[in-house]
Amino acid sequence: MREKLAALREKAVEQIRAADSLDALSALRSSLMGKKGELTQILRHMGGLTAAERPALGQLANELRDQLEDALTAAAKGLRDAAYQRQLGEETLDVTLPGRRDEGGSRHPLCQTMDEVEDIFISMGFGVEEGFEVETDYYNFEAMNLPKNHPARDMQDSFYITDDILLRTHTSPTQTRVMEKMCPRTPVKVIIPGKVYRRDDDATHSPMFHQVEGLVIDRGIRFSDLKGTLLAFIRRFYGQEQEIRLRPSYFPFTEPSAEVDMRCVMCGGAGCRTCKGTGWLEILGSGMVHPKVLRMGGYDPALVTGFAFGVGVERLAMLKYGVDDLRLFFENDARFLRQF
Ligand code: PHE
Repeated sequence: MREKLAALREKAVEQIRAADSLDALSALRSSLMGKKGELTQILRHMGGLTAAERPALGQLANELRDQLEDALTAAAKGLRDAAYQRQLGEETLDVTLPGRRDEGGSRHPLCQTMDEVEDIFISMGFGVEEGFEVETDYYNFEAMNLPKNHPARDMQDSFYITDDILLRTHTSPTQTRVMEKMCPRTPVKVIIPGKVYRRDDDATHSPMFHQVEGLVIDRGIRFSDLKGTLLAFIRRFYGQEQEIRLRPSYFPFTEPSAEVDMRCVMCGGAGCRTCKGTGWLEILGSGMVHPKVLRMGGYDPALVTGFAFGVGVERLAMLKYGVDDLRLFFENDARFLRQF
C-alpha cells in the first residue's frame, strides 16, 4: 500500500504539471480524489490492514491528499496568472480615443414653468400646498359645490376608480383640504401645483396635465384683489407690458366667476391664428370663492371672503415658449427637451 501511494504521488504530480487548462485540472481533480478517484480506491483497502499498520498509512494518505490538493490549487493559479499576463500583452488601450461624455440632463420645461410660477407667488407671500392626485368624489366635486348629478360635472370627464374615488380632475379639491387644515385661521394664502386627469386626448388636451390652483381667504378680500394678484402674476411671467381682461364665466365653486384673458403673446394684440383674430388669449379660470364652498371648508362666509383661480401649466408653457403641440411635453424627445 505504501508503494501504491508513492506511485500515485509520482504519477499525479507529473499529470498536474502537464495539465494545460483549468478544465484539464478539474478533470484531474476528480480522477484522483473524486468518489471513484484513484486515491479513494487505494484507501478502500485500508480495511485489510492490521491495527498496527493503519495509523501510519492513514497519515501518509492524508498527507498525500493535502499535497495533491495544494498542487492542484497552485497549478490553477499558475494557469490563471499566465492567461492574465497574455491578455495584458495582447490588449492595447488607445488613450487618444475620445471619451464617452455623459450628457447632462435638465429640468423638464413643465417643472421649470411650475417652479417659476411658484417663485412668483412665493414672492407675493403665498405658501405652497400639495393635495392628492387620487381623490374622493366628495372633495373633487361635492365640496366644490358640484353635487351628484350636477350637469357641470360633464365639463370634466373623469377617470373613476370606484363610484366614489377618482383621479382628480382639477386641483380645486385641495382648496377644501387646505381650508379644513387652516380653519379658523386667516389669512389662507396658498397655491397648489400638481397633476390632474381628464378623459381628453388631442393636440391641445392630454389625459394628464398640470394646474396651479390659487386660494386666498381673509376678512375683506375683494374682486379687485383677485384682479390685481393675477395681473401681477401675468406681468411677472410674460412681461411688464402685459394686460389682462376678465370675462364673466361660470364655475360652480366661484361666484362671481371670471375667465382671464391676456394679450396674445404671438401678435401682441393685433390678431393672429393663435388668438383666432381676437388679440386675446384665455389663460385661466377664477372667481370669488362660493359661500357654500367656504362653509364646507369650515369658514363663515359672513366673516371672510376669498378668491380662487386655476391655471393650466402646459398652456402657460406653450404660450411662453411658442410650443404648438401639447404632446411634445410628454414624448421625451431629447431634441425637444434640450431646448429649454
Ligand atoms: N378648477 C377649474 C378648472 O379646472 C379652474 C378654477 C379654479 C376656476 C379656481 C375658478 C377657481 O377648470
